[in-house]
Amino acid sequence: SLPFVIIAIDGGAASGKSSTARALSERFNLLHVDTGSFYRAITAELVRRGIAPENLDALRAALAALALGTRVEGRAARMEIAGRTVDPAEIRSPAVNAAVSHFAAVPDVRAALLAYQRGQAGVARGHGFRGLVMEGRDIGSVIFPDADFRFFLHADPEERARRRALEGQQDSIAERDRLDTQRKTAPLAIPPGATAIDSTHLTLAQVVEKISVLVAVKIPPLPPAAA
Ligand code: CDP
Ligand code: CDP
Ligand code: CDP
Repeated sequence: SLPFVIIAIDGGAASGKSSTARALSERFNLLHVDTGSFYRAITAELVRRGIAPENLDALRAALAALALGTRVEGRAARMEIAGRTVDPAEIRSPAVNAAVSHFAAVPDVRAALLAYQRGQAGVARGHGFRGLVMEGRDIGSVIFPDADFRFFLHADPEERARRRALEGQQDSIAERDRLDTQRKTAPLAIPPGATAIDSTHLTLAQVVEKISVLVAVKIPPLPPAAA
């Protein structure tokens, strides 16, 4: 039988992680796991409850009671909190954009998500996927350091700001990158051994092709009609 394949993709804001991971999930029939959406869902929940990242006692109590689950929609993993997925518009709201990196810098928040993220391998197996493609900031360094493939996407800050603005989003990506790079726990960094790809002057299709050529050595892509 074919091996179960884990692909890790890390990179800064708007470097192309989500669109690349989604395309790979379709081409190779992998579960697509956007861990940024997990940090965003938890942030939305904590903001709604009026809990600040500095309020460690309240934060710890809330994290312990989150009752996280996963719903698979198509090839995407969606986080459930107490049985409900968080509204996709809410996780991309300006309030969550502004707060998420502050919560993500708190070690307790990262610890609460560690086992949940590794457990996505079991979710993928249970749903019959051939593997998973997980994207974030610390996937190749902390979550799956032994992943079959680890990629790190770069793009110039101006190009990334342009991409995010084209999406019509109010999002200070330079500030999030600063916070994500400078935090003590699991900072955004290219892990040793990862394959760096600069997508500044590449289209999405070109990035997907570069990665697919490597992955196809391990598992064949789906025929285009099934993808
Ligand atoms: O909007 P963008 O796709 O650039 O970001 P995201 O992937 O949705 O992640 C939102 C925020 O979650 C990041 O800026 C990080 O602060 C945090 N994050 C993290 O700390 N570790 C991860 N593995 C994924 C996201
Ligand atoms: O997940 P992340 O924030 O890293 O990036 P994304 O949401 O996949 O990509 C941000 C935007 O850049 C999307 O609108 C993509 O279509 C676009 N993009 C691009 O123009 N060129 C690429 N090589 C990759 C993504
Ligand atoms: O129990 P199951 O194999 O389904 O899941 P797991 O123990 O969470 O590990 C799934 C995969 O994650 C393993 O095949 C390892 O390759 C990878 N893994 C990793 O790369 N680094 C870790 N620290 C833990 C697991």
